[in-house]
Amino acid sequence: MTTLFLATRNAHKAGEIHAILGSGFKLLTLTDFPAAPTVVEDAATFAGNATKKAVELARWLPRQFPGPQMPDTRPDFVLADDSGLEVDVLNGAPGVHSARFAAVDSSKSGNTADADNNIKLLRLLKDVPPEKRTARFHCVIALTPMLTETTESASPVCYGDEFEMQTKLFDGVCEGRILFAPRGQNGFGYDPLFVPVGFEQTFAELGNDVKNKLSHRAQALAKLKQQLDATAGKRLV
Ligand code: IMP
Repeated sequence: MTTLFLATRNAHKAGEIHAILGSGFKLLTLTDFPAAPTVVEDAATFAGNATKKAVELARWLPRQFPGPQMPDTRPDFVLADDSGLEVDVLNGAPGVHSARFAAVDSSKSGNTADADNNIKLLRLLKDVPPEKRTARFHCVIALTPMLTETTESASPVCYGDEFEMQTKLFDGVCEGRILFAPRGQNGFGYDPLFVPVGFEQTFAELGNDVKNKLSHRAQALAKLKQQLDATAGKRLV
């Protein structure tokens, strides 16, 4: 069984990833490793932030599994997801700032409450008519292998590059539109405001089973799963 270390403390996100990938994967999260370093998400793109999270944690993790003991619990890969909402009329905002949108113009650091982010989004879109409220959720997943001890003892120059060079990226997009008021109780983040193309209900009304089939994260994870299955297949030949 492949063990993945999810670089997230967001229980909703971890739950979605678990539901989408199915039982063939063992998942650990940052909650299992309270001492894990906090990675600052300061890149300008989802791909940059996802890569930064995956690489930094893949460098840190091997020190938590010294020697050959606990081979069954040692993760095979670090999986980091960076995602957010892109609203066309806001030139792609909140984008990489989705998690802290309400504080983006202030000096406050850290994420802001989903409710506050939604209120700000609705305020900015107050006078925008329905046909111009188009938006999409965008997700990029970075997958970095936990490298072996041989690689870890390579020269520091190669060591740094090795993690980045072996990182693979998978992306997914879900198109939709933003409502004038929140609806629904499921999900997280901007789900109560987002209606995916082809539906009349928000992600928060549609519920997890529907969301996990069509979401940005589901699409990125489907590509990742295909890649992992193909790699596992090759290893067996
Ligand atoms: P991240 O944890 O840095 O990737 O931040 C992602 C942020 O984007 C979240 O805090 C949400 O505000 C938003 N977001 C990402 N994916 C979703 C989703 O599936 N539904 C609703 N909001 C999302």
